[in-house]
Amino acid sequence: MIKTVPTTPYMDQRPGTSGLRKKVPEFQQPNYVQNFIQSIFDSLEGYKGKTLVIGGDGRYFNPEAIQIIVKMAAANGFGKLIIGKDGICSTPAVSNLIRKKKTFGGIILSASHNPGGPKEDFGIKYNIGNGGPAPEKITEAIFARSKGIDRYRIEDFPDIDLGKIAAIERGGMAIEIIDPVKDYAELMEELFDFDAIRKLFKSGFRMVFDSMHAVTGPYGKEILENRLGAPEGTARNFRPLPDFGGHHPDPNLVHAKHLYDLVMSDKSPDFAAASDGDGDRNLILGRGIFITPSDSLAMLSANAHLAPGYKGGLKGIARSMPTSAASDRVAAKLGIGSYETPTGWKFFGNLLDAGMATICGEESAGTGSNHVREKDGLWAVLLWLNILAVRGLSVREVAEDHWKTYGRNYYTRHDYEAVKSDAAHKLMSELTAKLSSLPGQSFGKDKVEKADDFAYHDPVDHSVSEHQGIRIFFEGGSRIVFRLSGTGTEGATIRVYIERYEADPARLDLDTQKALADLIAAAGKIAGIKAHTGRDRPSVIT
Ligand code: G1P
Ligand code: ZN
Repeated sequence: MIKTVPTTPYMDQRPGTSGLRKKVPEFQQPNYVQNFIQSIFDSLEGYKGKTLVIGGDGRYFNPEAIQIIVKMAAANGFGKLIIGKDGICSTPAVSNLIRKKKTFGGIILSASHNPGGPKEDFGIKYNIGNGGPAPEKITEAIFARSKGIDRYRIEDFPDIDLGKIAAIERGGMAIEIIDPVKDYAELMEELFDFDAIRKLFKSGFRMVFDSMHAVTGPYGKEILENRLGAPEGTARNFRPLPDFGGHHPDPNLVHAKHLYDLVMSDKSPDFAAASDGDGDRNLILGRGIFITPSDSLAMLSANAHLAPGYKGGLKGIARSMPTSAASDRVAAKLGIGSYETPTGWKFFGNLLDAGMATICGEESAGTGSNHVREKDGLWAVLLWLNILAVRGLSVREVAEDHWKTYGRNYYTRHDYEAVKSDAAHKLMSELTAKLSSLPGQSFGKDKVEKADDFAYHDPVDHSVSEHQGIRIFFEGGSRIVFRLSGTGTEGATIRVYIERYEADPARLDLDTQKALADLIAAAGKIAGIKAHTGRDRPSVIT
């Protein structure tokens, strides 16, 4: 039976870079989830009788949220739900299901790489029929609706069993509980040369894939070990846990330091990789080397034609603005389009849909292609494997060959986390105010060429997104970017992105932080980081 329940609005349900992210106790407030879900449904048109995919990364509160959404979807008139067994489905796999099954859209329950648990993070994100995150037009409509909501609709049938693959019916709505891995694994088999990778493993090549107790566990186990014949033990930490074993499921050099230490030791496998909470990020390591995500984007783009899914070449490469310009050099050499978008995967959707870009990437360990409309961690790992198998080179050899050809964009990101929100905003507004006075000023040997506040003009729908980060360009191609995170759940996070281009063959193998030391100091000075935040050093360096 459908119930219409009166409710009062919460004023803080504005989706950020990637959906609504809050601490679990905030989501547990009375009707908090219900309000947001009803606001999503109220902002959509034409979904009656249509299908919705629901998947989550398995974190704490995932099953509870799914049960609420199931009952609300039935009450609001959806015709069918497709849900991953145990409520689990990686973000790229949800995107694939939406596309493959031509559903109306999907809801992803995740806070990505943020920790999980009763006091940790949770998130809800709506994806549209192309499989990608809802564009700002929709997220803003959801937010507007959430501020005026006064009732929601819900069925009162008992909780469904998420643990069994089955086709059932509740409240006049069909529900399919499916194996979340199968369709995704089939897509990967279409894109990559599984025979070549199988041979590589047979020849003794060894890798470690660390799922960090998050959603890619079952995917890594099935694809790498069962389908590609990698030895048992290749997939590590492959059981998804609601609290990710107490760790941050963030595949970076801080939270996956054990992998970095492994490849720097004499026990290094040939290749090591990890993915995050919901499976859309990646970490790529080889014996004795870490590949920055910006470099990985460039290297994957330069070699993608070696994989069957990309043998016709690429249409274009898109990167988020703070991502290094390494991929621009590849696009220039290939004579294809190169695009610079604001931070957040949603901005790639139009370029992918319009066939203007084939591969996209962000410095924050996100890489993907037109096969889905989300970034895809395992996809990046498999493309690397495909390239290594075909070229017969090590990860380091692929990187060194790349730098020799294109030069190297030394790159780092410094994050100042949980800064007082006022202080962070003041830093940004003071920086903005002095933009016009920066050109011509020198910091050490680096002279500012221009500085601006990045605004994106979408070449497909001509929408404009302003205030997407402060850019300071130096003569010779170096760059510093400042922006505030849009995914944090505590205070504000200031991100500082620093890049220097180096073409001198004798200077291609420097330590990144040392190669960037002058620019790092310049960034501190230009923005007055210490004065504003009281911090001597960043909380995280990647
Ligand atoms: C961060 C990353 C961004 C990524 C997003 C979602 O957003 O910087 O590249 O798309 O997470 O995974 P931010 O916190 O910087 O707004
Ligand atoms: Zn993620």
